[in-house]
Amino acid sequence: MQLFLDSAKPNEIREAANLGVISGVTTNPSLVAKEKVDYKERIMEICQIVSGPVSVEVLSQEAEGMVTEAKEFATWASNVIVKVPMIKEGLRALKSLRQLKIRTNVTLVFSLNQALLAAIAGADYVSPFVGRLDDVGHDGMQLVAEIVNAYKAYNMGTQVIAASIRHPLHVVQAVHAGAHIATIPFGVLEGMLHHPLTDLGVQRFLDDWHRAIGQQERKNDV
Ligand code: E4P
Repeated sequence: MQLFLDSAKPNEIREAANLGVISGVTTNPSLVAKEKVDYKERIMEICQIVSGPVSVEVLSQEAEGMVTEAKEFATWASNVIVKVPMIKEGLRALKSLRQLKIRTNVTLVFSLNQALLAAIAGADYVSPFVGRLDDVGHDGMQLVAEIVNAYKAYNMGTQVIAASIRHPLHVVQAVHAGAHIATIPFGVLEGMLHHPLTDLGVQRFLDDWHRAIGQQERKNDV
């Protein structure tokens, strides 16, 4: 199980990378747009912070345009993964991208059928959106488990990224579902890290230590 950071913020990515728990990054047009920066500059900056895969999404809606964008992205850094939406034109683009040996992440996956098509078309990664499915009353993590099981049963090498992760419990559920990767926002990473019993335990150990030292010093003074 690996963790990617779902972010376009260099400070968050740097902080997460320094913790040594993040193997890659996923971005999307909404995340980069919020930053109000140049797409290429920001992606190149992120690709220098992490050496693992960095997913960068195409904006074109036609296969030819997607391939042109993908070729350009691939010149930005060697760790770029091209994110292609799960639409008919996206599948057409995948075929060419596979021939060009450009690695891909098929995004906006909401059904097992879509995940099967993506894997058969040769996607390196597939991203089922758990939170957005939960939002409309479907069990997003159930879909992750179904995809993982189908890929296993048919020996398909596509890696499953549990995406649209909203809280730490989603990460626990992604582990149980057998996801290869969960891509998480920075806030979820912080939520995974903290536990009130850990904080309490650290404080208690320190208090006990200082109390004992104080007693020893008082004894020595007598
Ligand atoms: C994944 O690659 C996407 O960028 C992301 O997980 C989408 O999450 P959201 O549904 O919270 O926007």
